[in-house]
Amino acid sequence: MGRFPSVLLIVASVTQVLSLCSHNTFLHPRAEGGAVEVKTFGYVGNIGPLFWATLEVPANSVCATGTRQSPIDMREGTFNMIPASDLSIEIPDFPAGTEFENLGTTVEIIGKGGELKFGDKTFTFQQAHFHLPSEHLDNGTTRAMEMHAVWQSENQEIAVIGTYIDIAIEGAAAVAPIATAPTEPPAAAPPAEVGAAVAPAYATEGVVEAVGLPAPVQVQERSWLGRFRRRSEAKKQQQQKRQEVAAPPSTAASAFLETIFSKVGEIATPGTVTETPPLVISEVVNLWKAGSFQGYSGSLTTPPCSEGVHWLVSTQTLRVSAATFFKVRDVLGFNSRITQNAPGKINVMAEAAMKALTLAVPLPAAAA
Ligand SMILES: *[C@@H]1O[C@H](CO)[C@@H](O)[C@H](O)[C@H]1NC(C)=O
Repeated sequence: MGRFPSVLLIVASVTQVLSLCSHNTFLHPRAEGGAVEVKTFGYVGNIGPLFWATLEVPANSVCATGTRQSPIDMREGTFNMIPASDLSIEIPDFPAGTEFENLGTTVEIIGKGGELKFGDKTFTFQQAHFHLPSEHLDNGTTRAMEMHAVWQSENQEIAVIGTYIDIAIEGAAAVAPIATAPTEPPAAAPPAEVGAAVAPAYATEGVVEAVGLPAPVQVQERSWLGRFRRRSEAKKQQQQKRQEVAAPPSTAASAFLETIFSKVGEIATPGTVTETPPLVISEVVNLWKAGSFQGYSGSLTTPPCSEGVHWLVSTQTLRVSAATFFKVRDVLGFNSRITQNAPGKINVMAEAAMKALTLAVPLPAAAA
């Protein structure tokens, strides 16, 4: 029992010290023209997620004690569905491209303005980075990757839009054996049907939209989501219809991602930076607007795991070609934090530590 108090002490010393999710925010300002800061935490072994709290004490303690940690399994009851029409999202395109950096723990593009508004809060777009595989689980299932678009408000609150990335279906069609190739003109097979036939899993996308927006399922304490007011359904539908026109086909590779990742080989080494070609990020913004968001109050998914992060996980999916996925995988390796307990539940590491001790404690007594 002698070791219990130290565990409890850690559990009790919840710090709210705010800070990779946080790169290029007030927490970790980016040095202009300086070298790219390479992170010292990792995803494997004794610098991996199980050890983050011990890498910097007490700055990272909340990684092992916080009860609203991210990422989580996005299951019904853990989030509130937010219609895209409740938010205002604008990001100017990048006609001159932007910096694309390797931080050792992720690769990231640097923002050049852009505004996210919800309720009475206004956030500025800071950066977007990538995780492989996805950090959030889509109702229990991992996706190939996840993009995190990070925003910061003037009073230094952080919002992150998470977007799942899957492999484009078009590649599968392209390599289909000639014997099974359709004999009719391509127009006879709409992309949606092709997608559904090739990968039934993708057919679940948009189901959330189709069944309508459920009433907020579980009102979390201090929920910022509660302040949203629904606009008229007619206006929303009109807006979505307009935006769907601009959204890419659901199974095609994203031009935005393909353009960024065309340069990923140039930043294979941590600490390196390159420039992207011109980027049309409005493709992504329009995709977001054509869907909804699963919102919850969580944390940074990297040390120091600060809480109070406004999470918005898009119901829409971006895609990359298989060839691009392999290129990105060679650079990112593995950078996904262990799934955390549902918001409000005990920290998964604290829970594991306490359960492990109940097994370990009898051992010395038995030996004595
Ligand atoms: C989530 O997964 C469970 C099974 O684990 C299933 O019963 C449920 O219908 C799924 N929900 C959605 C929205 O797909």
